[in-house]
Parts: sequence; C-alpha cells; structure tokens
Amino acid sequence: MSDHDFVAALLQRMTLAEKIGQLNLLSAGEGPETGSPAVRNVQGRLEAGQLGGLFGTKSVRSVRAWQEIALAGSAHGIPLFFAEDVIHGHRTIFPLPIALGCAFNPQLWHDVARVAAIEASAEGINHVYAPMIDIARDPRWGRIAESPGEDPYLASRYAEAMVKGFEGDDPTALDTVVSCLKHFIAYGAAVGGRDYDNASLSPEDTIGVYAEPFRAGIAAGAGSVMGSFNALNKRPMHAHREMIRGWLRGKAGFEGLMVADYTGIMELSAHGLGDRETVAGLALIAGIDMDMMGEDYLNHLPRLAKEGLSRPESGIEISAAEICSAVDEACGRVLLLKKRIGLFDDPFRYCDDDRAAKATLAPAHRRLARTSITESSVLLKNDGVLPLEPGSRIAMVGAAADDRTNLLGTWSVSGDHRQAVTLLEGLHAAHDGPITCVKGSDIVEDPILADRLNVHGQTVFLDTRSATTMIDEAVAAARAAHVTVAVVGEAREASGECSSLTDITLPHPQRVLIEALAATGTPLVLVVKAGRPLALEQEMKLADAVLFVWFTGTEAGHGVADILTGEADPSGRLAASFPARTGQVPVHYQAESTGRPYPGRFEKFKTGYLDLPDTIPAATGLFPFGFGLSYTRFSYSKPTVDEARLKGPDAVAVLRVTVTNEGERTGTEVVQLYISDPIARITRPMIELRGFEKITLQPGMSREVVFHVARRDLAYAMGESLLDVEWVWDPGVFVLRVGRNSRDLQGIPIHWDA
Ligand code: NOJ
Repeated sequence: MSDHDFVAALLQRMTLAEKIGQLNLLSAGEGPETGSPAVRNVQGRLEAGQLGGLFGTKSVRSVRAWQEIALAGSAHGIPLFFAEDVIHGHRTIFPLPIALGCAFNPQLWHDVARVAAIEASAEGINHVYAPMIDIARDPRWGRIAESPGEDPYLASRYAEAMVKGFEGDDPTALDTVVSCLKHFIAYGAAVGGRDYDNASLSPEDTIGVYAEPFRAGIAAGAGSVMGSFNALNKRPMHAHREMIRGWLRGKAGFEGLMVADYTGIMELSAHGLGDRETVAGLALIAGIDMDMMGEDYLNHLPRLAKEGLSRPESGIEISAAEICSAVDEACGRVLLLKKRIGLFDDPFRYCDDDRAAKATLAPAHRRLARTSITESSVLLKNDGVLPLEPGSRIAMVGAAADDRTNLLGTWSVSGDHRQAVTLLEGLHAAHDGPITCVKGSDIVEDPILADRLNVHGQTVFLDTRSATTMIDEAVAAARAAHVTVAVVGEAREASGECSSLTDITLPHPQRVLIEALAATGTPLVLVVKAGRPLALEQEMKLADAVLFVWFTGTEAGHGVADILTGEADPSGRLAASFPARTGQVPVHYQAESTGRPYPGRFEKFKTGYLDLPDTIPAATGLFPFGFGLSYTRFSYSKPTVDEARLKGPDAVAVLRVTVTNEGERTGTEVVQLYISDPIARITRPMIELRGFEKITLQPGMSREVVFHVARRDLAYAMGESLLDVEWVWDPGVFVLRVGRNSRDLQGIPIHWDA
C-alpha cells in the first residue's frame, strides 16, 4: 500500500476529534520557553489523543516515555513525532547561521546539517526547525544571527544544501530528519528591525528576494515550512491564504507540512483579525496545518466543523464543509509525514541510547565545528600584525576572552557551554609564548540591560571593581606585551529572538577599553564576537587588525586560535553588509539606482548622507557584502567571455577569470560573480550575485575559474500583485562582473538576443 493510501484509509477510521488532535503541537517544556504557552498539560493531552507532535525533548528517555503515553492514548496507535530547534548544530554547536553564510561553501553547509541530523536523530528527534532562511538586511534585527544573510542567491544555495544535509536521500534512514524552512515570509523585513513587527514589500521583493530561498529549499525536498509572526502588506502570515495556498503550494509546488510558529495562530487576534475562534478558522483555511502552542485548533475547530464561521463584520463566511475538508487535508499531511519517516512501522525506531552516546560531540563533529570557524570568520583589517608571531608575549583582554557562558550564541538549545573551548584555552594550546589575560571591562554597564541579557541564565556578570580599575589593569598588561588581543562584542542574548537594538555599535565600556588599549601603542588585534554586523567605524581606526568571528560554538577557542596563529587562513566573506553607523541601516549591496545616484562621495542634491565622510559609501556601508581579507594576496586576470553575443533561451554565457596567489602563504579565496541588467522594465538592483567558487591556492599558483550564466540567471521578478509575479527577461545588454567582493569587481558586457 502506498503511503498516501495508508493515510487515506486511516483518515476514514478517525473521528473529527482525533483528526483535530493530530493538529496540535506542544513543547515538552524541557528547555527554555520562547513565548507564553497556553497550556502545560502535555501528559493530559497525550492521554486524550490530543497531540500530533511534541518539540523540545532533551533525551532518548523522555522521547520514549512520551511516545509510550501517546500510543496508549491513541485509538489507532498513531505515534507522535518529535521536533527540535536544531539551528546551528544540536549537541556540537557550529558557528551561527549568519557566520555559516559567510563561508560561501555549500559542501560545508551540507555537512553541518548532516552532523546535526546525526546527533538529533539519535536522540529520537525526527523534525528540525531549520534551516532558517529569512533574508536579513537590517542588523538591528537580532534574528539576523539565525539567517544566512542579505542575499537571495546565497541564501538559496544555503537552503538547498542544508535541506539535503538534514533529509538525505532516504526519509526512512535512521540518521535523517525532516527539515523546516522558516519563517514564511518576510520576517526579516520587520520595520525598524523590531522583532515580530510587520513588513511592507513590493510583490517583486516578496517573490524575487524573500521567497527565493523558499523556492530553492522546496525544490531540494524540504518536508515542512513554518509560518512567520509578521504581517506582510497588512496581512498577517498565519492567515495569508494567498501566499500559503496560492504561492507556496500553488506556485512553488510545496506538498509538505505547514506548521505555525509559537502561538502564531493565537497572535492573529492581537493582529486585529478577531477572536480566538475566528483566527483558528482563518489560519486553517489559509493553509496552516498544525497549531504550535496556542491550542486554538483544539479548542475551536470542533465547533467550527459543525457550524462553520460567519463574521459578516469582517467579510468572513466559511462553511462547516470547508472546515471539515481543511481538517482532513491538514491531518492527512501530519499522518503522511509520520508514515514517510517510518514512525508507524516502529515508533521507537529513532531512540537508541548507544547511537546517541556515540554521536554526541563525536570527534569528527568537533573537527568540522573547528574548521567551520576558519571558513566563516571574516578578517576585516590586517596591518600585518596577524598572524601572531610565534613566541610573542600576548595580553589577552576582554570580558569574553576567558568566558565560556557566551560562546555558543543564540538558539543553541541543546548545546552545553561547559563542553566549549574558551578563546584563552584555545590560544594557550596553540601559542608557545606567554599570555596574560585580564577582563578590562564588563560586556555592558547598564544593570537593566544586563538583566535582560540574562533571561535564559546568567552570562553577563557585572564586576564589583570600578571601570577605571579594570582599564588600568588592561593597559598595564598591554604595555608589557608585544601584542594585545582584545576579545570584544556581544553577550549571547544580545542577538537572536527578541533582541533588537537601536544602536549596533559596541557597548560603551568596551569602546572605552579599546581606546585605552590603542593609546598604549602596543599593536592591537580585535577579535569581535557578535550575532549581527556591528557599526565599527571608530574601532577600525584604532585597531591594527580586526577579525570578526561571530558566535563560534563548541570549538570556539581552537578555531579562533587556528586563525590567530596562522595555522589556517580566514576564508569567511561577509554574508551581510556592515554599516559604518546604525543610521545607515537597512544596508545591503543590492541597492537600487535612484534618479540621482550616489556619486561616490557626498554631493548636494544627490542620494547620500550629509553627515557621512566621503570615505564611506552611503548605500553599501563600511564593508560590502562579500568582503573579507586573507593572509595572502590574490590577483585577478582580466575576465573573458567565450562569446559576447548570445541568442535564444538555451544559450549559456561562459566567463573565465584566472586567480593567482601572489603571496607567500597558502590561502583561500571566494571568487564571486555578479550580474547587472542596466536597462529593464522596472528599477533593478545595480548588481546581483549569481555565482561563487571557493578555491584554495598555494603560493604562486593560479586557477582558472569558469562561471556559466544561463538566461534564467538574468531574469527578474515583476508583477502587479503577489500571485501575478512572473520571472521576466529582456533582450539586450547585460554586464557580468567578477571579483573578490561586491565592491571590487571587473565587468564585461554581453549582448543577448531573444
Ligand atoms: C519561535 C521561533 O520563532 C521559531 O523559530 C522556533 O522554531 C519556535 N519558536 C519553536 O521554538
């Protein structure tokens, strides 16, 4: 019997109440809660057959116990599925997703997801709430930390690779999990960078930018999608029938499970769509299959299925038959997911204490975590002080230098920071000279902010000593050293969910510390730990080298030390632009041309900022997308194209460029290809990423890198409304641009006839 037939037969035997029970999704309450849960009676729900899935379990033992209760409570022996937030690793924590985005390496993304799937599945987890693929262009938004960055092309490659890593080729394999693309859609476009706030976007940006990674993830086989908290163009996403049934299912061909985000259905009431009963009906009809945490389906669908929903005051008329048919459809999808992954055959098949013990923090997993740090850290400046001289005397300064509690970063719910390697430990293990470590300053000085940052356990400790005492101690250590390595940045909870900021400069006490350290004259290296791009205009002037490592995860100290000592070449390139100042955001490289384009410096009556120095590009920030230095130097030949005139839909433009390592060290470069369409029917971004290749070259070696550009790569989204949007293409001139980042490019025109 096919899986579909199995589900159809089961549905026929189920009562309405049993079907609605399958649409309920609750947290096991074994980890941190991220909202106000409506109910905590998981056991009662299970005994009554009123739960389809559970998330947030923390052990094989607990999965087994919940599953036993579920099976006993279900008249048809329907098992639960178990989900978890496995965002950047499960037990072995990898760098944050924004950092992984900087790796520009699909194989790495795949392997990271694979390791996470192995660790999570061994603990009985079948479904992960990842990859998060929200395009993020506003670093005030704390959840930029969880996103692969600002660019739809890069995020699409990330989505595909992660989905394949999680799901593998065989849904019944024991070490694979169902992935979940989230958050659908435009969650990262929150106005003001305020988490949960709404977004207003053109149809072109919605489909061409924000939906692109979803399209790629669905094509790669993602089994589920999660809704987003925001409204898009005044329509809350948990009730957005046009985007869910129309675009996601209709246009993108998604056939998997659509889950609500945490109380996302209930929150439709706060969005102003009506009482709890109304919003339950709206969400179901819009296409949300499972209700996470709010229990509005459980409480209201039984009546709606009998009486329908009539709200003339808001123009809502939904018949009981429509509700019943939507319940069948949603329940069918829940059951199909369980059937596909083999839970009906053996509900305990994923629970294996031995496998869990072997998988958790396995040496190979830790090795991958370590190299991921090299791949995702971005060297922003280096006046020659890095790599550190062997044997040199180092002053290591900063609240984060010898700290374990902040290392894993946000959304590492199954990670244990006690297993992580501090930066001091890592440097001690890798460097043969003396290291003195002092705190220098607190991470933040405001006790109210410190309290807010300590919401999931204390990671910010305010020192009892005065700021001056700590700075004096740091200055003395710096004076006595050959080089100062200051580890600065954010506390763990300063980025992530509900961690929006109005100011993305470094916290004040750290800025004062950096000034004092720079004034000593001892060469100053900044290692910056953060979950978002920071505005580092002042620090770039004061420091001799700046290495942006993001939040680095379990292998933090080893991975960062590999870079500082020169054991590895930092090969991360920015997946999100860095503004010079907070007021420049949102900032991203896909700036559109205006009618009065920014001329490269301030000019009256041209686009730009009155108070920004001419050295800082107004629209694209201090460091552009794709930027990052290496310990070696790469030169680029003049690019060539095989044919400059092309014709027809099947032609392919071929661009070649030769990259040479001109330095004395082996190094890694990300060769980037962008396109421009200078004349189109609508205003377009000036450039758009369409390819990248990460290559490693030994000193003196060259490699020809070849990019293929198909006609589809030159198309753009255009339409009057969301469902009208088509990918259109115009014949004529295009420019292919290749180089080391989105600002440093060589262009070559091609002409393409219809
Ligand atoms: C809320 C978050 O927005 C989402 O990303 C997460 O998966 C759920 N909570 C479950 O923890």
